[in-house]
Amino acid sequence: MEWKSGKEIRRLFVDFWVSKGAKHYDSFSLVPEDPTLLFTIAGMVPFKKYYLGIAEPDVDSAVTSQKCVRTNDIDNVGRTARHHTFFEMLGNFSWGGYFKKESITWGWEFLTEVIGLDPDRMYATIYKDDEEAFDVWNKDVGLPDSRILRFGEDENFWFMGPQGPCGPDSEILYDQGPAFSCGPDCKPGCECDRYLEIWNHVFTQYDRQEDGSLLPLPRKNIDTGMGLERLTSLVQGVSNDFETDLFRPIMDHVCDMAGIGYGDGLQGDMAAKVISDHIRAVSFMIADGILPSNDGQGYVLRRLLRRAARYGRLIGLKKAFLTDLIPNVMDIMADPYRELLDNRLTIEQVVAVEEKRFGRTLEQGSDLLHQEISSVFAGDGSILPGDVAFELYDTYGYPLELTREICEEKGLSVDEDGFRREMEVQRERARSSSKQANSVMTGDLYAELLSEHGPTPFLGYDSLELEADLTVLMKEGKVVDSASTGDSVEFLLSRTPFYAERGGQVGDQGFVKGDGFIVEVEDTIHPAGDLIVHRGIVTSGTVKSGCEVRAMVDKDRREAITKNHTATHLLHESLIRVLGGHVRQNGSLVSDRFLRFDYTHFEPLSSGELDEVELMVNQEIQNNKTIKVDETDLATAKNLGAKALFEEKYGDKVRVVSISEFSSELCGGVHVCATGEIGLFKIINDESIGSGIRRITAMTGMNAFRNYQNITGTLKELSSNLGVRPARLIEKIKSMDEENRELQKKLQRYTIRSAMDDLRESVVKTDIGQGVSLYVASIEGVTPDQLREVGDSIKDKDTGSVTLLMSSDGDRTQMVCMVGGDAVEKGLHGGKIVKEVAALFGGKGGGRPTMAQAGGPKIDDMKDILDKAVAIVKGYVK
Ligand code: ALA
Repeated sequence: MEWKSGKEIRRLFVDFWVSKGAKHYDSFSLVPEDPTLLFTIAGMVPFKKYYLGIAEPDVDSAVTSQKCVRTNDIDNVGRTARHHTFFEMLGNFSWGGYFKKESITWGWEFLTEVIGLDPDRMYATIYKDDEEAFDVWNKDVGLPDSRILRFGEDENFWFMGPQGPCGPDSEILYDQGPAFSCGPDCKPGCECDRYLEIWNHVFTQYDRQEDGSLLPLPRKNIDTGMGLERLTSLVQGVSNDFETDLFRPIMDHVCDMAGIGYGDGLQGDMAAKVISDHIRAVSFMIADGILPSNDGQGYVLRRLLRRAARYGRLIGLKKAFLTDLIPNVMDIMADPYRELLDNRLTIEQVVAVEEKRFGRTLEQGSDLLHQEISSVFAGDGSILPGDVAFELYDTYGYPLELTREICEEKGLSVDEDGFRREMEVQRERARSSSKQANSVMTGDLYAELLSEHGPTPFLGYDSLELEADLTVLMKEGKVVDSASTGDSVEFLLSRTPFYAERGGQVGDQGFVKGDGFIVEVEDTIHPAGDLIVHRGIVTSGTVKSGCEVRAMVDKDRREAITKNHTATHLLHESLIRVLGGHVRQNGSLVSDRFLRFDYTHFEPLSSGELDEVELMVNQEIQNNKTIKVDETDLATAKNLGAKALFEEKYGDKVRVVSISEFSSELCGGVHVCATGEIGLFKIINDESIGSGIRRITAMTGMNAFRNYQNITGTLKELSSNLGVRPARLIEKIKSMDEENRELQKKLQRYTIRSAMDDLRESVVKTDIGQGVSLYVASIEGVTPDQLREVGDSIKDKDTGSVTLLMSSDGDRTQMVCMVGGDAVEKGLHGGKIVKEVAALFGGKGGGRPTMAQAGGPKIDDMKDILDKAVAIVKGYVK
């Protein structure tokens, strides 16, 4: 068999099925439309609706190489040759088109003729009584009886999950030879690597219900899946997926950085595998719009990042290293997965920020964990308590899996039930503190209404008022026949102009009027699929189910919403143009009063950047660009460069909102017809709301105008108070500031002067004999220099003087002692005096005979010290 690269195998697979009439779709996002799944786990996931028959495909067969993430076996990644979190599934699909015979025989043709696998090494497994599959293998392919094996449900029946499309399957096995065998009992079907399962063909015939029962699907379908990594390992003749060219450059780079050799030791190999696997998963997840967080997909991302970072530390990579691997991922995968290149900066920044953060977290939590591990050992235990694991999780961001791994390395286990109990307690706390949901309905009732009445036709793009039938009326969670004044109700209309909250845009408000009653609509929501539910209060009369109504959207409010929505698109594009292509929408709120836009960017915006963004949006408004709305399919929209948001689920038909050449975005919201209608756009605030995510709040139209009026009003008032024209305000305020500072300085000087005057005036003179006089005084708030200045002037006037001055300032007490020349002659020594007196209040000091100084802690009663000082000084007079 000829060596082929992973990239080539991927291309050969797609080309092969296209030659059999299949439509090739690019890989769909890792974030599935299907809310029951966290990630796209198989090639068929994006096509679920075609299997269930709730949507009609344009074609009856397709082929993809689909990006998938599975995290159920994360602990096995790196331990085995085959487990991955991120992998590519090669798959061919048929919806009512070709069936078992073609899928199997063409599959065989691909493996043996295109890839060149040895037919004599292949086996097939089938579902126990699937005679049709048996005949295809036996008669059409020519596989002998002995190489067709029958298994039961566990092996040969594929489910997508607890619910959804499923059916019997047939797997193709490849015998890698005795070297891969697990022992003498090894035979086809064995879990070991000898008889490798390479390709699963599922004959999707049933829809599994919640209760486990199987409902036949409207048509017979094919869904197959073959791991690209696995097939590549066979073609490249290597013993595990990590040695294929899909991984090897990453593996080698990890080993180089750590200074280890691949194959030198189990621990090093495992770390290199875990890191190589996770960095691929992480790069693809971020490229598909996932950001680290504490739940859902974001949590998985964070966990993988942290796990990879920690494995790096296990092989001695002390500094952050994950971003260095991103270029390898790019080299291997950016063709065909362009999204990696498009989001390169974001991927690098998110990985860098998260790894740095985790480094800090690890350090902080590691002390606690090791302390706790020691105390478990000290108590002769073997289980780390659940509350400790929870504290590590809650306070230090240690995923449970990480705590478990570290404990396992030390031979301990973790009380995981205890951990979960703590988690539940915390959730309960969060639940009870969060406001009760507005809705009184149960999700089930909405789902029932949806299946009974179907999606509600929304006509509100074009009309804000129309006649409709009120088909279902609800009160307190139940369907009712009527409701009267004062009742809170929910209701369905046969068609509606009311926009229901979605895509960040708030639901419409307005009125519904009928024969003798009015219902004020306070909100409109989508509680299940495309069912539109109106919520409101009966303000007069009695409303009856089944009656005709006139539905009227609050026009002014709606108009304000449309302005904010179009402005959000302008803002989005302007941010990309000013800050760079890494900017991505991370959420938005479009209401009638303001708009809020969350986006990825890693540093605060300078005021210049903010001005530029604001200016660009306003320029587009001034240019009065026309808004065009087109309906097309997702692929065409993306090819035309329309921005698509990862968290949005798009159907077959998508709505593309284009603002002339400036911006193009997939969007179901309401917009103005031309940008000029927005009038004005004003950014009110820009802030950080998490690592790498910022939020801009802005206003448009009359709201922005009122904001502008308020600000100019304040300015006007300010300029009239200050007596200058607004244009001179800044200059004026600067000079006032300057003036103020000068005055402060002067004031300080005067305050000190007057304190010194007070000090001079409060000096008490005592005659202590031999012609020596003692002068004492104390005051708050002057410096030792100033004490000295006063002391000097006394000494100059009276050469037979001893002066002791004290002051307290802040938390210190200062003292100076000056002795005149005659007094020194008489044996008085400033240094000695000050030392002795300072000791009275715990201070220290010393100095020359004529001048000495001391300092000590602040004391309340300086006078008391000075009184005592009199006796001390007297003692020195002979
Ligand atoms: N959906 C099938 C699988 O994942 C093909 O194995």
